[in-house]
Amino acid sequence: MFDRFDRKINYLRISVTDRCNLRCVYCMPEEGVTLLDHKEILTFDEIVDVAKSAVRKGVDKIRITGGEPLVRKGIVDLVKMIGGIEGIKDFSMTTNAILLSKYADDLAKVGLHRVNISLDTLDPEKFKQITRGGDIQKVFEGIEAAKRAGLNPIKINCVIQDNKHEPDAKEVAKFCEEKGLFIRYITEMDLEKGEFSVVDGGSGGDCGSCNRIRLTANGLIKPCLFSDISYSVRELGIDRAIDMAVGNKPQTGHENHTGKFYNIGG
Ligand code: 5AD
Ligand code: SF4
Repeated sequence: MFDRFDRKINYLRISVTDRCNLRCVYCMPEEGVTLLDHKEILTFDEIVDVAKSAVRKGVDKIRITGGEPLVRKGIVDLVKMIGGIEGIKDFSMTTNAILLSKYADDLAKVGLHRVNISLDTLDPEKFKQITRGGDIQKVFEGIEAAKRAGLNPIKINCVIQDNKHEPDAKEVAKFCEEKGLFIRYITEMDLEKGEFSVVDGGSGGDCGSCNRIRLTANGLIKPCLFSDISYSVRELGIDRAIDMAVGNKPQTGHENHTGKFYNIGG
C-alpha cells in the first residue's frame, strides 16, 4: 500500500490489550486508569482477520503490543494464529518482560521472531519506582528466557529524560553490550502536550519514512500515533478501515488527545 505522500505502508502494529501489569510513571496514571470494556476488545478472530487483510494489502511486518501483550489471556494462541499467516517477514512483540520467562519458549515455537523489551535502569529500587512496583528480577529472567528461545535480535527500549549519557541509560547500554542485546533510546514524551520524538536507533518519529499503521485493542485503525484520526474496523469493515487509514495518513503528526500509550500500543 502507498499513501498520498508515496510512503510505502508495510508495517502493522497490533495492540492486543490496554491492560498492563505495570504502571510506568510516564505511561499510566497510578490509579483510575480507564480501561476498555471487554465487549469493545477485539476477539482473536477479528484481530487475525485484520492482520490477514493487511498482509493481503502488502504488510509484511507485524508487531504485537499492548498495554502489556502477555497479560492478554491466550496470547500464545493468538501469536500462533497470526504467525500462521503467509507473507509475514518480520513478526515481533514489544513487552515489559515481566511474564516473558513463562512464555518465551512457546512464543518462539508458534512463530514469533523477536522481542523488544522495556528497561530504563538496572537499579531494582529505581525500577520499582518507575514501574510503580515492578520486580526487575523478572525482567532479567525474561531476557534470559528470550535469549535461550532465540527470539533474536533482542532490542531494549530505554526511556531517557534527555540524553543517552544519563547514568541509568549508560548502565543499561553496558548491560546490553555484555548480553548481546541492542539498545534503543526513547526520549520521554508528554503525549498530553503532544510532544513526540524520534526513537534513536529505531524507525519511529521520522514522518517522511513512516511505514506504519496501528490497530488498537478496540478495533480502531490509526494511521499516526500523533493524530486523532482513526477508523473502526467494526463500523466500517476491515478493508475499508485500512484503506481509509492509509488514504488519510497525515504527512506529519502533531497532536494526540485520545490517550496515553497503553491505549494505542506505543
Ligand atoms: N515516553 C516515551 N516512551 C514511552 N513509553 C511509554 N510511555 C512513554 C512515554 N511517555 C514506552 C515504554 C515502552 C514502550 C511500549 O513505550 O518505555 O518501551
Ligand atoms: Fe505497562 Fe509499558 Fe506502559 Fe510500563 S510503559 S505501564 S510496561 S504499557
